[in-house]
Amino acid sequence: MTATIIDGKAFAAKVRAQVAGHVARLREEQGITPGLAVVLVGEDPASEVYVRNKGKQTVEVGMTSYEHKLPAETSEAELLGLIGRLNADPAVHGILVQLPLPKHLDSDLVINAIDPAKDVDGFHISNVGLLGTGQKAMVPCTPLGCLMMLRDHLGALSGLDAVVVGRSNIVGKPMAQLLLGDSCTVTIAHSRTKDLGAVCRRADILVAAVGRPEMIPGAWVKPGATVIDVGINRIERDGKTKLVGDVDFASAVEVAGAITPVPGGVGPMTIACLLANTLTACCRANG
Ligand code: GUN
Repeated sequence: MTATIIDGKAFAAKVRAQVAGHVARLREEQGITPGLAVVLVGEDPASEVYVRNKGKQTVEVGMTSYEHKLPAETSEAELLGLIGRLNADPAVHGILVQLPLPKHLDSDLVINAIDPAKDVDGFHISNVGLLGTGQKAMVPCTPLGCLMMLRDHLGALSGLDAVVVGRSNIVGKPMAQLLLGDSCTVTIAHSRTKDLGAVCRRADILVAAVGRPEMIPGAWVKPGATVIDVGINRIERDGKTKLVGDVDFASAVEVAGAITPVPGGVGPMTIACLLANTLTACCRANG
């Protein structure tokens, strides 16, 4: 039997439609338009594509998009100055600094300079601490999108064995916190985990966020498990460039109960959740 394919593209369109409805009501009833500022330093081509998509979708749901493109040689003082101005600007409800930053800039310092109430990425140390202690936080967009898909597909997650492969601050660690918050038994595995296959095979929920193309074969998937593939890896195959996940889709789809495809799974949910977080920040700022 082959797995149900979890359609992240369709789910993200539903989330964006809901956000657009709220934004329209905010404008009609209170004359408020949520604003999202995106800061891009340098010319990383992948980051430029993300930023362009974010800007386009922000406008499509009726919000205002502020794009700040700075040269790669921007100094820390200049970047911190811009963040200070965005923090103070009442028209800006969300601030996102695209990562990775050029090497001469200290990402932790820059992220922690963002007003936590406007930190729609959920990367500020205050939001990390709030999430870790089960308090009301801005939640990182990619893990939030994964959680929404899991709840939609499985209903209550309580008591399920969840394995998160990957320990990044952006995905792995917050994903584990969210699953714990939903009463899963959570294991964080990574490249040094002993017998990773055996650990993965215990999972009712397997989240792959390692950034290694097709690293997790179907043989590591427990029959019937729900597999969430966060990886977006560009590979060359048969003379063509192809996007693949961290899971070997062809073998995993034969074993899993449900699986997210790449592309069209987790990816579209990330921007949808960014817009949802911006709406949340705007509503909180306006009581
Ligand atoms: N670079 C890759 N993913 C992300 C993300 O979710 N947020 C930011 N700010 N940068 C990223």
